[in-house]
Amino acid sequence: MYNSKITGLGKYVPENVVTNDDLKEWMETSDEWIQERTGIKERRWIDPKTSDDTTSIMGAKAAEIAIERAGLTKDDIDFIVFATLSPDMYFPGGGVRVQEILEMDTIGAIDVRNQCSGFVYGLSVADQFIKTGMYKHVLVIGSENHSGGLERSTRGRNVTVIFGDGAGAAVLSREEDNSKGILSTHLHSEGKYAKELALEGPSTGRWVDAIMEENDPDDVSYYPYMNGQFVFKHAVVRFSEAIVEGLQANNLQKEDIDMLIPHQANLRIAQFIQKKFRLSDDQVYNNIMRYGNTTAASIPIALTEAWEEGKIKEGDNVVLAAFGSGFTWGSAIIKW
Ligand code: UT7
Repeated sequence: MYNSKITGLGKYVPENVVTNDDLKEWMETSDEWIQERTGIKERRWIDPKTSDDTTSIMGAKAAEIAIERAGLTKDDIDFIVFATLSPDMYFPGGGVRVQEILEMDTIGAIDVRNQCSGFVYGLSVADQFIKTGMYKHVLVIGSENHSGGLERSTRGRNVTVIFGDGAGAAVLSREEDNSKGILSTHLHSEGKYAKELALEGPSTGRWVDAIMEENDPDDVSYYPYMNGQFVFKHAVVRFSEAIVEGLQANNLQKEDIDMLIPHQANLRIAQFIQKKFRLSDDQVYNNIMRYGNTTAASIPIALTEAWEEGKIKEGDNVVLAAFGSGFTWGSAIIKW
């Protein structure tokens, strides 16, 4: 059995910055409310007038950087794992689009549908392929174009102000030393809460014809819905559980954490976890202030930035933790 190790990281965010004050163009909100409840100051939203970015294009841009930093070329990649809730098309997914954009060989590509936990799930999938010896280098991408599908009105403000666009990518490579790289991943789900954070239509359960036929001006089933406080309460519990589970599996204590990269859902959630595990500001990386919640892209963007800023060093214990729609949650424990 091999281990897998992150050998390259990359990120891409659209140029267009949307501040909290900019949102007032579409809805009743305030910089004060958004910062106090979420920590977000601004986010990136693709501006279709000036940019051709899509979920796959952003993913491919982040992937190119990750591949180069791994010291590899696209021809060295054996498989693509693409995590998103906002693919360019209903089907096929984003992985095959990246294969085309980067002009890669006809390697396999799968999409992972696990929303905010998407990158941790994707990393786990890639890790298993490398562990068994099937593949040597796997590209894992998290990318989201939220702005194209959010309800820009006061009715949708509790969801719309939170989400941002962007992409992050990691190259996972075979590591022969079993004490290094991804030590373990831990994945969970609780489908009974699927509707607490979901986008229901269009889907085969609520198809376009039905939506058009009903022509109901109050129908918001094709915008994301979130029961915010309910999600918040579950998030803080599940984040903690996933971290504890990962530490215990590796005989580590909370004092052994060098860097925690939590999914960037809400600064208040990250601060709660930081306090609970008694971590210093240097041991937790947050960038939700600048990008909002980028769902599957949030962990790889944050991981890339933490690494670029020299905050992750060889030998560090790095913990990734995520929670989101599904509900799904999970963690990854990495010896850098
Ligand atoms: O990434 C996946 C996981 N996601 C999460 O973990 C998100 C978890 N939930 C949250 O982060 C928070 O619940 C939110 C940030 C989404 C909302 O914060 P909250 O403190 O739970 O606010 P609320 O939804 O209970 O709304 C409080 C008030 C309401 O007004 P009334 O009824 O008290 O008069 C809302 O209408 O704030 C109002 N409100 C807003 N006001 C200004 C809701 N959204 C906005 C807004 N601007 N954008």
